[in-house]
Amino acid sequence: MMSFSFFLLLALDLLLQSVDGQTPPLSDGVPCAANRSIYPCSAYALYRAAADQLPALDLASVGDLFGASRLSVARSNNLSATGAALRPYQPLLVPLTCSCNSNRSSAAIPYQIAAGDTFYQVSTFKFGNLTSYPAVELDNPTLIPTNLSIGVTAVFPIFCRCLDINMTRRPLGLVTYVLQPSDTYASVAASFATDVPTLIALNGPQNGTFSVIFVPLYQIPPPLLLSDSSPAPASSPDVENDRDGVITGLAIGLGITGFLLLLSVISLWISTSKDGKSSSSNNELASATTNAGKMEFAVRSSEEDKLIGEISEWLDKYKVYSIEELKRSTCDFGASCRVMGSVYKGIMHGEAFAIKKMKWNARDELKILQKVNHINLVKLEGFCIDDSSGGGCYLVYEYLENGSLDRWLREPGLARKLDWRVRVRIALDLANGLQYIHEHTWPRVVHKDVKTSNVLLDHRLRAKVANFGLARAGFNAVTTHIVGTQGYVAPEYLADGLVTTKMDVFAYGVVLLELVSGREAAGAGGRALWAEAERTVFGRGKEAVAAWMDSALAASTCALESVVAVVDLARECLRKNPTRRPSMVEVAYTLSKAEEPFAFADDSAENLSVDESSSNLHKIGR
Ligand SMILES: *[C@@H]1O[C@H](CO)[C@@H](O)[C@H](O)[C@H]1NC(C)=O
Ligand SMILES: *[C@@H]1O[C@H](CO)[C@@H](O)[C@H](O)[C@H]1NC(C)=O
Ligand SMILES: *[C@@H]1O[C@H](CO)[C@@H](O)[C@H](O)[C@H]1NC(C)=O
Ligand SMILES: *[C@@H]1O[C@H](CO)[C@@H](O)[C@H](O)[C@H]1NC(C)=O
Ligand SMILES: *[C@@H]1O[C@H](CO)[C@@H](O)[C@H](O)[C@H]1NC(C)=O
Ligand SMILES: *[C@@H]1O[C@H](CO)[C@@H](O)[C@H](O)[C@H]1NC(C)=O
Ligand SMILES: *[C@@H]1O[C@H](CO)[C@@H](O)[C@H](O)[C@H]1NC(C)=O
Ligand SMILES: *[C@@H]1O[C@H](CO)[C@@H](O)[C@H](O)[C@H]1NC(C)=O
Ligand SMILES: *[C@@H]1O[C@H](CO)[C@@H](O)[C@H](O)[C@H]1NC(C)=O
Repeated sequence: MMSFSFFLLLALDLLLQSVDGQTPPLSDGVPCAANRSIYPCSAYALYRAAADQLPALDLASVGDLFGASRLSVARSNNLSATGAALRPYQPLLVPLTCSCNSNRSSAAIPYQIAAGDTFYQVSTFKFGNLTSYPAVELDNPTLIPTNLSIGVTAVFPIFCRCLDINMTRRPLGLVTYVLQPSDTYASVAASFATDVPTLIALNGPQNGTFSVIFVPLYQIPPPLLLSDSSPAPASSPDVENDRDGVITGLAIGLGITGFLLLLSVISLWISTSKDGKSSSSNNELASATTNAGKMEFAVRSSEEDKLIGEISEWLDKYKVYSIEELKRSTCDFGASCRVMGSVYKGIMHGEAFAIKKMKWNARDELKILQKVNHINLVKLEGFCIDDSSGGGCYLVYEYLENGSLDRWLREPGLARKLDWRVRVRIALDLANGLQYIHEHTWPRVVHKDVKTSNVLLDHRLRAKVANFGLARAGFNAVTTHIVGTQGYVAPEYLADGLVTTKMDVFAYGVVLLELVSGREAAGAGGRALWAEAERTVFGRGKEAVAAWMDSALAASTCALESVVAVVDLARECLRKNPTRRPSMVEVAYTLSKAEEPFAFADDSAENLSVDESSSNLHKIGR
């Protein structure tokens, strides 16, 4: 019986594929607007939570699918982040950052191929037609659609659009909307508090079902979500306001207890699954999650309590490793496997991981990491709790083979391989990672320890931000306990302990100076690089920049204008007054302009041998 319906589905699937093959609207995606300065912009997709496609019908799974945090999805829908499960096919607004990628307007969402996935299946069902398989094929030129390996990461370009026509009322953004069988322009207009002429102006006349249209969003939530929202779970808002402090304290207390409780459930779960009872372990997992859900409900109102809910997510999101497994893979945490400090390289199932030994204070880092999921942030793969030695905790990260940026800048042989184009790319990657943690998490996360040794490079020398050990959720907080690294600490933080995202912008400015000069952030005698730049380079013209530039850079041909532009950007980031520093969004935007001259060469099948400074670039291609 089961196999019969399976074949039926398979046949249906094949049938649908051929039908779809005719003329799917927007099959290749939306062409970019001529005016490129409108990119990137914030946009939204209307996603209907596909019950049969998500690991769990909740905001976290939807957030994971779109590389957004649960909280940002919750905010876009005016839902409580700790709220209950979603209804099947519940419409949700998902926030996107819309960019112009190879001349098509999309939000590039990384997606890891799982067993049974095809480009068609994932774009049609998992992403609910918010993209199409021809567009996916175009954006993944190195992947063979008929032979996808499990675990490989593909980019799914979710269709999106930035406002490229004149509108009398400026919307918050444009929503990518997939027309449903029952929809007409009139019904969609009513659902989004707009009108039919506006929809026609944006999309042309109405076409077939399941085609993508763009709808202006004027309010969050739009009428569609209001009329559709299920009754909110009973809450007692009156308690929250006057007794906030009490509740927060309670939540922290419960947070830790909940945490310990969950850890014991985890270890229980590990031991049962070792007994080979894998099917029953799922139930236990489920009950652990519900328990956490209940606790969460009890203390719902404060910020801190989210922790409890988030912990429950680790169970499905991360692998739980055994200590034996980690010891075996890291030569028993021996010196030969040590990367640096308390970080070890381990090989498990043929794949390398970076394993970080924590001193029981993993909680903060985990709390941050589980919220963030971005291509420019080092990914947490799993963790391990070692009961035997009094509760050691280990975090298992993806391993980036080319190590930290500071090493590359300091060793002359390596520094020469980092030509200007690669350095700008690294700066942009870092800016994108920081922009993500600043803008797409709530409460905002401040990294607090941005520096070249916390920037890791992968095999293609693409950069990722690492080490969230000092990162804190919270904005405009004041702390008396000053942490950080000499040469990178922002003046207002040193003086008043003021923690804002602008302190990361300052440290980022220092990283830019290091990329340009190849010098260390704090030179001999602790002299800050930024102070040196202020004295000798800022505002002194091209010649001063050329003289100060890394000699390894000067050797390769590089456009001095572009270097000067980056030095100017660094100067803005290093303003003494934090409010005058640009946001990471503005930084990323400015840099993407600086990178534009290189961008197309990079897109064209990574054929780097055509570049002018070919001697260096040969080695940097794949
Ligand atoms: C391009 O868009 C920017 C930002 O919206 C605007 O300031 C500029 O005038 C536009 N340029 C043209 C040529 O339309
Ligand atoms: C958002 O949700 C809150 C609490 O559920 C509610 O009070 C508020 O009216 C909602 N906002 C809108 C615009 O519906
Ligand atoms: C983008 O469009 C421009 C002009 O329309 C064209 O010259 C360029 O080759 C295109 N780039 C890509 C990557 O398709
Ligand atoms: C996407 O579109 C196809 C037809 O092109 C349709 O069969 C399918 O059901 C749609 N997917 C969703 C989730 O609506
Ligand atoms: C599919 O890919 C695998 C590994 O990437 C390769 O070994 C195999 O030969 C490929 N099969 C076909 C039919 O291309
Ligand atoms: C928008 O309006 C400006 C001036 O009002 C005009 O120059 C421009 O062509 C218009 N753009 C479009 C796409 O209609
Ligand atoms: C609808 O079809 C027309 C002509 O076939 C096309 O120009 C237009 O882009 C389509 N609109 C959408 C939203 O697909
Ligand atoms: C790369 O460049 C070489 C020589 O310029 C050319 O022969 C080759 O076809 C190019 N490869 C791709 C994938 O564009
Ligand atoms: C990255 O590191 C690997 C291993 O250390 C090395 O083989 C590769 O050449 C490096 N990549 C670059 C671009 O140097």
